Amino acid sequence: MSTYTAMVMNEPGALPAPVTRPIPEPGPTEVVVRLRATSMNYHDLVNLKGSIRGGPWPRVPMSDGAGEIAAVGNAVRSLRVGDRVVAAFSPRWLNGVATPRTRGDVLGDTRDGCLQQYLCIEESAVARTPLHLSDAEAATIPCAGVTAWTSLRGADVKAGDVVVAQGTGGVSLYVVQLAKAAGATVILTSSSDAKLDVGKSLGADHLVNYRTHPEWHKAVRELTGGEGADLVVDVGGVDTLAKSILATKMGGSIAIVGVLGGFGMAEIPYTTVMMQMQHVFGVAVGSAADLVALNAAMAATHIVPQISHHLDWTQIPEAMRVLGAQGHIGKIAITIV
Ligand SMILES: NC(=O)c1ccc[n+]([C@@H]2O[C@H](COP(=O)([O-])OP(=O)(O)OC[C@H]3O[C@@H](n4cnc5c(N)ncnc54)[C@H](OP(=O)(O)O)[C@@H]3O)[C@@H](O)[C@H]2O)c1
Repeated sequence: MSTYTAMVMNEPGALPAPVTRPIPEPGPTEVVVRLRATSMNYHDLVNLKGSIRGGPWPRVPMSDGAGEIAAVGNAVRSLRVGDRVVAAFSPRWLNGVATPRTRGDVLGDTRDGCLQQYLCIEESAVARTPLHLSDAEAATIPCAGVTAWTSLRGADVKAGDVVVAQGTGGVSLYVVQLAKAAGATVILTSSSDAKLDVGKSLGADHLVNYRTHPEWHKAVRELTGGEGADLVVDVGGVDTLAKSILATKMGGSIAIVGVLGGFGMAEIPYTTVMMQMQHVFGVAVGSAADLVALNAAMAATHIVPQISHHLDWTQIPEAMRVLGAQGHIGKIAITIV
């Protein structure tokens, strides 16, 4: 077979439709991955709805991808046909601090992404899949997993620290699992007691329903003897940032990660940040080196990501509906046939 199927968005907001393409030949330092799975992130929902208007059109959406190597270029030394890999969110960001050029290039946004059977990509932009994970599980790592990882690394989270994760979406439940693996105490918030039960089964120590307890930051302070958390991973943005700051201890950190409350300006208690000498830092997923490091940590700890929905790639509208309605817990995995 010399052709394959790619699901292509023809314009912003158009549902991906099948297109037959020739299977790519890798350049000298590239590999061709036979993709088996992707996963739906909030970022993908924004892209599928047509809000990321720049970039090439038509294009293949979805940033996450996992599968096995189908072909390697003649200068590729680290990988062989058959190796199982996941693709990095920003393929040109190899390590260290990003530049606008290395961070700006994103699978599914500025180049074809992973809703296709074959992906041609640089050897340096894939990482070996942890052996204990299926491709569907591994496909949840590159965006949500790496974001949780860099959030925790940004605050140097260690045993005995207290970490707050907000809601039970993909990033936050990775925060729960990775923070527990680091020996931290985890406080998880959610709009739903049933979802909190799932968080508890993943290791969350304290559960706070932010619907019934809108002053959840006070609950965090009470649970920490009045001190506050070492790290709050903020995914609510304008809805949550002020309370995240109030929930954080002196010298603690707030990772600014999400925009679930919208793209407006957040009012914050800046004197608290100042007088409590807090560290507020932004997270933009992570590098290929972060992906490699996280995969090693996943392999060592045998963490299995929380997936509430397994769909196939003909069910993108259903995946959009579930994520848009916040009907998922953790991740939505999507198999590519
Ligand atoms: N900066 C980065 O590097 C980066 C990377 C990945 C994602 N993100 C961003 O991080 C956010 C989460 O991404 P995701 O893919 O994990 O999303 P997701 O899976 O869609 O998470 C949605 C869940 O978050 C909770 N939630 C929704 N609105 C909330 C609010 N206002 N306050 C607190 N919790 C709220 C809800 O959980 P409950 O129903 O349990 O309450 C909801 O089910 C998104 O804004 C995304 O764009 C940023």
